[in-house]
Amino acid sequence: SRVVLAYSGGLDTSVILKWLQETYGCEVITFTADLGQGEEVEPARAKAEAMGVKEIYIEDLREEFVRDYVFPMFRANTLYEGEYLLGTSIARPLIARRMVEIANETGADAIAHGATGKGNDQVRFELGAYALKPGIQVIAPWREWDLTSRERLMAYAEQHAIPVDFAKQGKKSPYSMDANLLHISYEGGPLEDPWTEAEEDMWRWTVSPENAPDVSTSLEIGFERGDPVTLNGMPVTPAQMLAELNRIGGENGVGRLDLVENRYVGMKSRGCYETPGGTILLKARRALESLTLDREVAHLKDELMPRYASLIYNGYWWSPERRMLQAAIDQTQAVVNGSVRLRLYKGNVIVAGRRSQSDSLFDDAIATFEDDAGAFDQKDAAGFIKLNALRLRIAAGRNRSPL
Ligand code: ARG
Ligand code: SIN
Repeated sequence: SRVVLAYSGGLDTSVILKWLQETYGCEVITFTADLGQGEEVEPARAKAEAMGVKEIYIEDLREEFVRDYVFPMFRANTLYEGEYLLGTSIARPLIARRMVEIANETGADAIAHGATGKGNDQVRFELGAYALKPGIQVIAPWREWDLTSRERLMAYAEQHAIPVDFAKQGKKSPYSMDANLLHISYEGGPLEDPWTEAEEDMWRWTVSPENAPDVSTSLEIGFERGDPVTLNGMPVTPAQMLAELNRIGGENGVGRLDLVENRYVGMKSRGCYETPGGTILLKARRALESLTLDREVAHLKDELMPRYASLIYNGYWWSPERRMLQAAIDQTQAVVNGSVRLRLYKGNVIVAGRRSQSDSLFDDAIATFEDDAGAFDQKDAAGFIKLNALRLRIAAGRNRSPL
């Protein structure tokens, strides 16, 4: 039988590759994706070849990732549990989809991944795979094997002559990390005590706000139909947009986050995240929506958002209810056109201005504190308030006064 393995080229998935060949005697097809994690993906080829892999897929999915997954998610201003921008969660549906497509192309009947049995990622990979290919088999070595410690894993690597870059292993970070164009995440190691502050040298993408420049950096982001398309007046692709905002945000200490979150499998987990570009875009998008969306549409969107966030966090990107919400969210975005001016300063993202030539609902003739020349009849407000007060007055008259 043939199995498609999500292969990073690192030690863990190299051990998995060998273990699959040994344990299942199967033909392994590797799939390695560049999602903007900032590490070379090409070295995975030689490593896979050295282990006898004949079909090796190495793909640059950066633009597709941001255009078809990150930006649609952003349209809902999505945050999980009020804080997490879902950097890892949103990458999994794309990886699941490509694994299934590669299985179809190569006649494989199984997929395998390196996520543990304790986490969210296994759920996301597998729900995605089952939704797209109902008969697929899933192999999750971490739930099966007895390589339950770092030491055993290394011993297995040595026994099977899996090249371990010991120089690199030596200074290997103590964290479980995941990175792509949207974020970099850190879990485990010293972070397992929620009271312990993260070491300053853990953070890789951002300077600390204390060390950020003493002058602010201003920038302007232009949006079309809810998606960011220009940066300081220049058209940029989705991946370029995030990469550039990550750089500028990182220099200004923007986008650090330290939180305890509820995993779908039931446990609480402490994680640290750097999401500079996403943090900037969330602030900017909300500023533009504040100008262009109808009040009730905006409020309803905000009510649906936590539900939408949970769907993505829990691995239901490929579900009918996620697509239903997406259709509603996308429908609201036709009017989200215009631009936002921002200042980045020592970890803060400060909105300085927003405008929409075509779609602003802001009416200065009505909103003005000066003479509005009859645009708004203030006398109307008396009846508006009186009718809204009617039930309050009736209740108070029936001795139901709140005092
Ligand atoms: N807790 C985050 C999430 O569930 C990040 C997971 C990081 N995954 C990893 N394989 N290191 O989305
Ligand atoms: C893992 O368990 O593989 C990483 C963490 C997670 O999936 O939540």
